[in-house]
Amino acid sequence: MHTVGQILEKINNYISGLCFVHAPEDLYAPIDYVLSIGGKRIRPVLMLMAYNLYKEDISAALAPAAGIEIFHNYTLLHDDLMDKADMRRGKKTVHKVWNDNTAILSGDAMLILAYQYIAKTSLEHLKEMLDLFSITALEVCEGQQYDIDFEQQNNVTERDYLEMIRLKTAVLLAACLKMGAIQGGASQQDADLLYDFGINIGLAFQLKDDFLDVYGDPVVFGKNIGGDILCNKKTYLMIKTLELSNDTQKAELHKWMQTTTFDPENKISGVVAIYNEVGVKIRCENKMRDYYDNAIRSLEKVSVEKEKKNELINLVQGLMYRNN
Ligand code: IPE
Ligand code: IPE
Ligand code: MG
Ligand code: MG
Ligand code: MG
Repeated sequence: MHTVGQILEKINNYISGLCFVHAPEDLYAPIDYVLSIGGKRIRPVLMLMAYNLYKEDISAALAPAAGIEIFHNYTLLHDDLMDKADMRRGKKTVHKVWNDNTAILSGDAMLILAYQYIAKTSLEHLKEMLDLFSITALEVCEGQQYDIDFEQQNNVTERDYLEMIRLKTAVLLAACLKMGAIQGGASQQDADLLYDFGINIGLAFQLKDDFLDVYGDPVVFGKNIGGDILCNKKTYLMIKTLELSNDTQKAELHKWMQTTTFDPENKISGVVAIYNEVGVKIRCENKMRDYYDNAIRSLEKVSVEKEKKNELINLVQGLMYRNN
């Protein structure tokens, strides 16, 4: 068994050993840029940890794990363009350092590279891996479309929101775990339980991301605070606040969402003041904890020795209490 730290070191070494620098420079340099800044690498780590539940030597799973991280980074290039985000991982986003077209095209190239690396899976599991990855990648697009659609809608329910974040975020974490299990030769039942564990962790993970977008420290979080408020994103915080607010607060929130000319700082502080008045912070934290508890229940049913699952529990506990 490997520790989270050992797995992280292996995947980081593997990714830094890949060379993405070719001509034309403006296509490949952004790929190297975004991948070398790092990030938490939780998706490849989840894949390798699930694999490690069944196989001791994880080297055969490093290429597909890198493929998943390349895919995740591709979604970030396009997401930052769609969300008009200037900062990520404490650095300027690709469309800011280069331009919008670069973020689109380098992103496209990364999606193709992701397939190339995932296709390095052993032949025995190749079809199953590619099928799951393709379904998942499409689901991420669906989630991203809902996320964008919801910016213009004021009647988004908690249920709509949960389905949107299941698609844009949770299915990828779940698929990583399941892909690790598949490659490791797990039973169908274990693979499905790990997928379910990943969905619940993924929902908690996106709730935390939305939370940090408001209450995080920009230096540690690495992204600008209040970006979701400026885009009128229908986050859990916004939806619950709309639900809990009185008429005056509701009118104020709608006013902020409708005005097209505003000082960004005023809009952020105006909206956050109402979040705080209705006490939405604790509700978000409770919701996260519920999903975390659900996740642990699925993990408990996975048929490997309890000790082997402890590292996964350590990892997801760290994600719950993360500040970045
Ligand atoms: C950011 O993902 C996008 C979301 C799904 C919230 P991460 O928070 O995993 O980003 P990095 O890779 O660690 O930077
Ligand atoms: C991102 O959701 C989901 C994907 C990238 C698919 P967010 O838009 O909240 O992610 P961040 O906050 O920009 O990392
Ligand atoms: Mg974003
Ligand atoms: Mg987004
Ligand atoms: Mg976010």
